[in-house]
Amino acid sequence: MDTAAFPDLRSAWWIGAVEVPSRLVLAPMAGVSVQAFRRQGRRFGAGLVCSEMVSCAGLHHGNDRTLDYLRIATDEKPLAVQIFGSDPTIMAKAARMVADAGADIVDMNFGCPVRKVTKTGAGCSLLDDPELACRIVDAVASAVDVPVTVKMRRGVEDGSRTALAVGPRLVQAGAAALTLHPRSAKQMYTGWADHALTAELVTLVDVPVIASGDISSQARAHAVLATTGCAAVMVGRAAQGNPWALREIIEGDATVEPTREEVAAELIVFIQETVRELGARRAGGFLKKFYGWYLGRGRFPRPVKSELTQFDDTDEVIRRLYAAAPGARPLVEWLEAELPEAEGRLLDLPISIYGGG
Ligand SMILES: Cc1cc2nc3c(=O)[nH]c(=O)nc-3n(C[C@H](O)[C@H](O)[C@H](O)COP(=O)(O)O)c2cc1C
Repeated sequence: MDTAAFPDLRSAWWIGAVEVPSRLVLAPMAGVSVQAFRRQGRRFGAGLVCSEMVSCAGLHHGNDRTLDYLRIATDEKPLAVQIFGSDPTIMAKAARMVADAGADIVDMNFGCPVRKVTKTGAGCSLLDDPELACRIVDAVASAVDVPVTVKMRRGVEDGSRTALAVGPRLVQAGAAALTLHPRSAKQMYTGWADHALTAELVTLVDVPVIASGDISSQARAHAVLATTGCAAVMVGRAAQGNPWALREIIEGDATVEPTREEVAAELIVFIQETVRELGARRAGGFLKKFYGWYLGRGRFPRPVKSELTQFDDTDEVIRRLYAAAPGARPLVEWLEAELPEAEGRLLDLPISIYGGG
């Protein structure tokens, strides 16, 4: 492969006036992209991190207690906050709140395939209504000074090429970058992301395109950069419980597997930060899926991770992690000393509990 033909993953690029220090973007993932995930992503090399989607409907249902609220801290920056909805006026209002709360970029979700979202005309449904999609982008771009971007799938039906027809119109309406996850909504997460479509989109627009889907190694990231001409790659599932994947993609050192102590230390800090963010009761349930993600991949014996998921009490989980990897203690102390205080503003818009893209 001709390595001169694509940009270095560690080089900076721009979305509007926002400088992004690397070409690795951490994907928005509902139920995953908490602040601890985003801050960790930045530490491991992501140049841009994204919140999971927040619902504009929150402007009307501000007291819904089944929903969580988004926190924004200065050390996440640059940060894109993703909003979803189908009413241009409400999306514009939400965008203003998001920008006022400190987002560097307002991203719009035109890709979510989950029925709860699409039946309201939001998410990937908007790809079938380009007029409305453009009115939303126009309203949001006119409402804020920060760049606005769109994340989308290829279309609703398998084999759809809708993103290629709609993408340029969204740019005309004011989108400063586009992210394409080239699966159909019907596909959900089956099959492969068809980045031949990403390459076509790149030729049709004069703004940066971010490629999302199935990027889990530096080799794959280089291949997608080289064959599509995209400005950056986005990594989602590969980074779940595995920030080392981000480091491997950026630095290319596939041989450096983290030690057990490093894994336990990152997980302990992740737990502590998430408890601060969500509160102990909510965090206890929320974190369970992360235990398998962190401790799997042969890193810890199976009984250790299955045992942890039985505890709602995160203090107990942390005690057991120290018991399984006593050498993690100095690493945790080091990480705590390195990490800035988890300060941050609370954005008064609810996070969707339904998620997806
Ligand atoms: C659990 C989960 C939640 C997701 N939530 C969102 C979301 O809120 N907004 C969005 O645009 N995409 C969402 N996505 C899609 C990802 O951002 C990404 O486009 C997709 O997972 C493909 O990338 P990957 O193969 O690197 O995971 C979600 C994906 C997963 C697995």
